[in-house]
Amino acid sequence: MGDSLASLRTKLILVVALITIVSFVSVLVSNLRLVKADKEESLRQSNRQVSELVAKFVISQIGEYRRGLNYIYDSWSENPEFALQAEYFPDYAWVTIVDWTGKPVFEWENTKALQKSGISSHKLLGKRNKDSLFSEVRQVLSKSDDWLFFNSTVDPLMPTFLLGSEVSSETDDIRYVALAEIFADSLYKQVQSRDGQELMLIDSHQNLLLSTREGWDPSKIILSDDQTLEIVKALNVGEERLELIEPLQMEEQLSYMKKFKAGQGLTLILQEPYKNLTAGHKKIQWQSGIVGLIVLIFVINVIIFMAHRFTSPLRKLSDLMTLVGKGEFSGRVDVKSNDEVGKLAKGFNRMLHDLSERDGELNRAKQKLIQSEKMSAFGQMSAGIAHEVKNPLAGILGYAQMAKKKLEDRPEVFNYMEIIEKETTRCKEIVENLMRFARQEKANLQKIDINKAVQDSVRLVEHQITVSGIKIVQVYALEGKPIFVNGNMNQIQQVMLNLMLNAQHAMESKGTLSVSTHFDEVHKQVMIMISDTGCGMSAEVQARIFEPFFTTKGVGKGTGLGLSVTIGIIKDHKGNIDVDSTEGKGTTFTISLPAFGADEGEAETEEKKTA
Ligand SMILES: Nc1ncnc2c1ncn2[C@@H]1O[C@H](COP(=O)(O)OP(=O)(O)O)[C@@H](O)[C@H]1O
Ligand SMILES: [Mg+2]
Repeated sequence: MGDSLASLRTKLILVVALITIVSFVSVLVSNLRLVKADKEESLRQSNRQVSELVAKFVISQIGEYRRGLNYIYDSWSENPEFALQAEYFPDYAWVTIVDWTGKPVFEWENTKALQKSGISSHKLLGKRNKDSLFSEVRQVLSKSDDWLFFNSTVDPLMPTFLLGSEVSSETDDIRYVALAEIFADSLYKQVQSRDGQELMLIDSHQNLLLSTREGWDPSKIILSDDQTLEIVKALNVGEERLELIEPLQMEEQLSYMKKFKAGQGLTLILQEPYKNLTAGHKKIQWQSGIVGLIVLIFVINVIIFMAHRFTSPLRKLSDLMTLVGKGEFSGRVDVKSNDEVGKLAKGFNRMLHDLSERDGELNRAKQKLIQSEKMSAFGQMSAGIAHEVKNPLAGILGYAQMAKKKLEDRPEVFNYMEIIEKETTRCKEIVENLMRFARQEKANLQKIDINKAVQDSVRLVEHQITVSGIKIVQVYALEGKPIFVNGNMNQIQQVMLNLMLNAQHAMESKGTLSVSTHFDEVHKQVMIMISDTGCGMSAEVQARIFEPFFTTKGVGKGTGLGLSVTIGIIKDHKGNIDVDSTEGKGTTFTISLPAFGADEGEAETEEKKTA
């Protein structure tokens, strides 16, 4: 039972611990996911804002360049002899305008700037062919009124862009195409990115237009990361996307991409290492782990404590149950709680109380049964013996008395006959007692005065007892007025004699014999108490005194029948006899008998008197 309780406790602890761990982990995981989603969203927001700003700036810058080309075209169409002032267009390396057929109408070089950098306009074009560039621009323009802008750097020390756009006046029907090589420095200078972020622009040729990565070489224009390039190519105009990208031999990058509406695929990319995003994340994970552990330890302690509290009453119950199994009903469970276990304990205690009462009753009944069986066996035997012996004894006594009369003149034989008569009388008395015990003789019960019965009984033995040196004290209820019971005078007197002679034997030659009667008017009962200051009895003796033939007196002194006859008589009178004795101090026998009411009795005596 103890083991199963222990395992009940363990199960309880395990279940609650499991629930705690599972709920904690799920809360943690969902929280982390929320945090991550939130962070990604805020990153997307901030990247979108940054990108919007940069895109606006880049578009407005290119717009500026296009307006410059328009201005040049306007000036040329007003005055074909128009000469460009280099200081107003410091960003342009050269400008060419051709008509739709491809015939150049205007050409200009920023000789000053070119000379300064020591690069010829020819070198600036590199392997590119002006005619093919014009035809590319024309092709774009024939489909839409868009423009081209791409990285055209040949010398890393002098990065350049190429801008291709239509120039024409509203009044003209003729369409012209302008092409310009533009120094990249001013744009580079103005496009910056935050620490840890890399900002890239993809040009109309799907090449790198610019990158804010430190040490980036503007002549290295091929985007090394295919994955990014794939996405850029697949993006629609005006579309944006946030992607987690893992470039070869580089850490994971969270990439925000947005394709511009104009510029033939001009795209902005904002990249940030993914670990920047998850750094805080890891810290949260770690902290939550520790908090979780602390919570778990605390919870487990609480559970152990609670489990102990819940199961300890059960343990007490089970221990008690073991005792009950051994027939021990005196234990009780001390459980104060008012829950189911408390109720169980209370029920159990009630059950124990009932059980112990029933057990006591059962024992008493068993004892009574044994006693009555014994009595009935003795009774039958005694009745048999008494019946057989009674008549011969009567004969012996009769003849002894007759012989005595005839032998008065022979004193020596006369004395023998006297002894025979005395001893035979004694035997007769024993036999009579036996018969009484066996209740062969059922006495008639009638209304008798108990005070008188007791007084008469005392008078019978008074002389014999006081002579032996014992004092007699008598107290009568109702000042000795009659108290009536339904009884037999002779039998009551016999009971009194038995008890008083026993008392005398217990005291030997000194002490006090108290005889008293009490009347309980409420319960209509009369009590007779016979008290002595004699030797008293041990518990073992007390337990057996009502057994027939039980005596502690020597052979010839006691028959052991006095008290068994007494109890028989009292039972016949529907009464009770109790003994209270202390070894060395004395003994009190209390007889209680049902009585008529005192008045009733008196009224009847009055009636008798008058009658
Ligand atoms: N008043 C008493 N004081 C002490 N012992 C007593 C008293 N009355 C009875 N007993 C005990 O009870 C026993 C049985 O008494 P009883 O039935 O009258 O038989 P007997 O008197 O023949 O022994 C006695 O032997 C004695 O031990
Ligand atoms: Mg006796």
